[in-house]
Amino acid sequence: MSDYQNKIDEIKDKVDIVDIISEHVHLEKKGNNYVGLCPFHDDKNPSLTVSPTKKIYTCFSCHASGNAITFIEKFKRISFSEALRELGNRVGVTVSQTKEEKFYLQNKRYYDIIEESAKFYHFYLTNTNNGLDAIKYLHNRNITDDIIKRFNIGLASNESDLLYRMLSDKNHLVVDMIDAGVVRSGSSFYDVFKSRIMFPISDLNGKLVGFSGRKYQESNESKYVNSAENVIFKKGNILYNYYEAFQDIKQNNNVFVFEGFMDVIAAHRANVKNSVATMGTAFTIEQIKAIRRITENITLCYDGDIAGIESTKRAIKLLNQFQMNVSCIIIPDGLDPDEYVNKFGNDALKDLLVNNQVNAIDYIYENEKKSLIKNDINSVEKFKKEIFNFLHIFNSNVLIESTIKKLSHDLEISVSGLLNDYDENKYKPSNDIYIPIIVNKNTGDIVNIRDNAKVASLDILQKKLINIAIKHPERCAEIESKFDNFYVSPDNRDIMLHVHQYFNVHNVIDEEVIKAKLPDETATTFEKILNMEFPSDVSQVEVLLNGFGEYKKHKILMEIRQEPNSVDKLNKTISARRGSTKFLKKGGDFND
Ligand code: CTP
Ligand code: MN
Repeated sequence: MSDYQNKIDEIKDKVDIVDIISEHVHLEKKGNNYVGLCPFHDDKNPSLTVSPTKKIYTCFSCHASGNAITFIEKFKRISFSEALRELGNRVGVTVSQTKEEKFYLQNKRYYDIIEESAKFYHFYLTNTNNGLDAIKYLHNRNITDDIIKRFNIGLASNESDLLYRMLSDKNHLVVDMIDAGVVRSGSSFYDVFKSRIMFPISDLNGKLVGFSGRKYQESNESKYVNSAENVIFKKGNILYNYYEAFQDIKQNNNVFVFEGFMDVIAAHRANVKNSVATMGTAFTIEQIKAIRRITENITLCYDGDIAGIESTKRAIKLLNQFQMNVSCIIIPDGLDPDEYVNKFGNDALKDLLVNNQVNAIDYIYENEKKSLIKNDINSVEKFKKEIFNFLHIFNSNVLIESTIKKLSHDLEISVSGLLNDYDENKYKPSNDIYIPIIVNKNTGDIVNIRDNAKVASLDILQKKLINIAIKHPERCAEIESKFDNFYVSPDNRDIMLHVHQYFNVHNVIDEEVIKAKLPDETATTFEKILNMEFPSDVSQVEVLLNGFGEYKKHKILMEIRQEPNSVDKLNKTISARRGSTKFLKKGGDFND
């Protein structure tokens, strides 16, 4: 038996399960066992039984069951090994740390800074005269004091360095404040966020990692300022409210996904608590994986405007490839959920979310139909093509039949004619798999990945980009943001992040200093990159980045295709390739 398994058995044996559980649940003795209210569902009568002899607990109502370790894991929502170590500590059995825990401890100074900043912002909002205007703004948006508390909302003052001074008083190092993304340097040190309402953002494990700050006064500044990507804050790894909504998502076996965190708050007001938001970006694999850990049922609730509809369509295609069941909400009049609740009230939003879900294909059908001009042959063809493409993706006979009937009715073309067309497969995406279109954000061009997937070596491509970033550091931010996906090797990613961070702070690149900051093996790679002979033609950046995006998507699709029913398999391939990452796992942004 392995050492680890031995430890598990030893700890299970040594802890008193009744002691452990009764710290969190009131237990009463009943015969040989103990009973209490089950903490894993909304229990009215005690359904939880704890057996001190068998050392297990069971709930006869929600069927939760396990031992003392899994109880703590589930109750505190920590990892199994964290729970194991916690209990081990109590009975004198030492268990070593996991990679995640090590990562957390290594970067604890950043987590601490974010947490203290969040506390400070919240205090500043709720306890100072300067906070009154911001509170008024929030109240005007129907954000009550309860909500302010629940979402830990705060305020960054209009002073240029208040947070910096507070953190300095607490003996934090200024480099750490800068790396954590709350302070920046110039002729002196300044707070990154000024005169903004602050929304703290936690990662999937509930640890605070960054902020989004909204302006609340008239100004030309942008509406939101977010923490920059850094070692602990990875937009692609975050779903706003995920950790907090975990139990609600589980109980409902469904999650609502919104575009903005204001919408999550709106849903919360309408008592729909199984809600999360991507931070204004397209889905990443990390986010999909996180959702799949709890439920396969997802309801997309993006803004009712054109951008929201396009994002919904893209998300449907992507989620379908991960075998998720997708429903959508159509919000009338181009509104977003927050505007909707303010216009029509909490009950109306709840009704819209709960009772007005349409399935994904209907959503697409109805949206495409809006731009259909029946007596324009091109428009008809385009409509037919869109729908056929989606039918191929969904690949369900029932859907094909019902949709073709609908098409026949709407286009006044016979069912057999349509089926004929469909059978000819001319609308079928090649390789039996949907190939996403990619919209180049700058030019608006639509590219098909097959035309553009000729990337010889991804590693070389990445190294070339790092090389360019060093020689043209004004492109650092852009290049670094594209490194936010799992096809970038941990080393390259690490290097790019350091280069970018260094440039951010110092406005120049100092290769030697950067090298000194890198872990040994990574420093060796860095040196290699410095010695590579690349033409550092900055005009190549677009081409390289494009190739990068294409390659990434191509690879992902190929992997999914090989194992259509196993996302786990995909994850395994990914983590095997990643090796031991020094940074948090990253997701691939499909929208870049
Ligand atoms: N976002 C951002 N930067 C911006 C605009 C938006 O980071 N300049 C992100 C934010 O995470 C925001 C999400 O995109 O939550 C959705 O944007 P938007 O719909 O514009 O925000 P709303 O939720 O409507 O915010 P508000 O109601 O305060 O205008
Ligand atoms: Mn809004």
